[in-house]
Amino acid sequence: MELVPMKEILDRANEEGYAVGGFNINNMEFLQAIVEASQEYNSPLILQTSEGAIKYIGIDYVIGMVQAAVKNIDIPVALHLDHGGSFEKVMECIRKGYSSVMIDGSKYPFEENVKLTSKVVEAAHSVGVTVEAELGKLGGNEDDVSVDEREAKFTNPEEAEEFVERTGVDALAVAIGTAHGVYKGDPELDFKRLKLINDRVDIPLVLHGASGVPEKDVKHAVSLGINKVNVNTDFQQAFTSKIRELFKKDSELYDPRKYCGPGRDAIREAVKGKIEFLGSKGKG
Ligand code: G3H
Ligand code: ZN
Repeated sequence: MELVPMKEILDRANEEGYAVGGFNINNMEFLQAIVEASQEYNSPLILQTSEGAIKYIGIDYVIGMVQAAVKNIDIPVALHLDHGGSFEKVMECIRKGYSSVMIDGSKYPFEENVKLTSKVVEAAHSVGVTVEAELGKLGGNEDDVSVDEREAKFTNPEEAEEFVERTGVDALAVAIGTAHGVYKGDPELDFKRLKLINDRVDIPLVLHGASGVPEKDVKHAVSLGINKVNVNTDFQQAFTSKIRELFKKDSELYDPRKYCGPGRDAIREAVKGKIEFLGSKGKG
């Protein structure tokens, strides 16, 4: 199956009131586990790579592996750039075959974010590629980017409405209390704010930093307009915990297939759990 624009996947989720996972891949095992679980559960899938993952894997390897992974499956799959930091990076990914990109202008003041996002939307839409943008700023750590909690800024609903109108973006990532990486305390989501944003904005909303957020809170967010839920850290932890456990049992282990294989199985099970509670099972 060919890659599809993320808009196709998210617009249906928005109409029917469920969410699709934006699942990050870090290596081949992540990709295989995520694709296998999605195919088994007949769920649409958004595969995404951060700039850090692209740097680690190599963009040509990403494209080659993803093409091999989707060749013989029949669920819709989008390949998405997660947290694209510049116009140039976004263009590189589009040229290489990504069907969706995120331009993350959340580090800029509102007007600059509007300007950069609009420029990306114009270029991406001309070749049928979907665009996600971010307004407000999430705290936490992702790859080499660390945002102090005091710097994090919740999304303003009025600004969200203006931002979507002026940029023509397809999906909007909102900051409502989640953070990237591992939570220190319990995350507290601002559902009131999410509802206000959803009342003003028609396009699908995206929840970043969903690892470690209790299932009931994610479900509540989905009921209030979230249609894409980003997960990376939970799968990294599933993979690494399994490998740690195996090395604890046998510190002489040296064949990577003997620990990466079980690590991959652990990710597959974790992905299935997410698909179930996001509501995308059977929607492929
Ligand atoms: O963009 C990716 C996600 O927001 C990752 O969030 O660190 O909670 O898995 P996470
Ligand atoms: Zn994110």
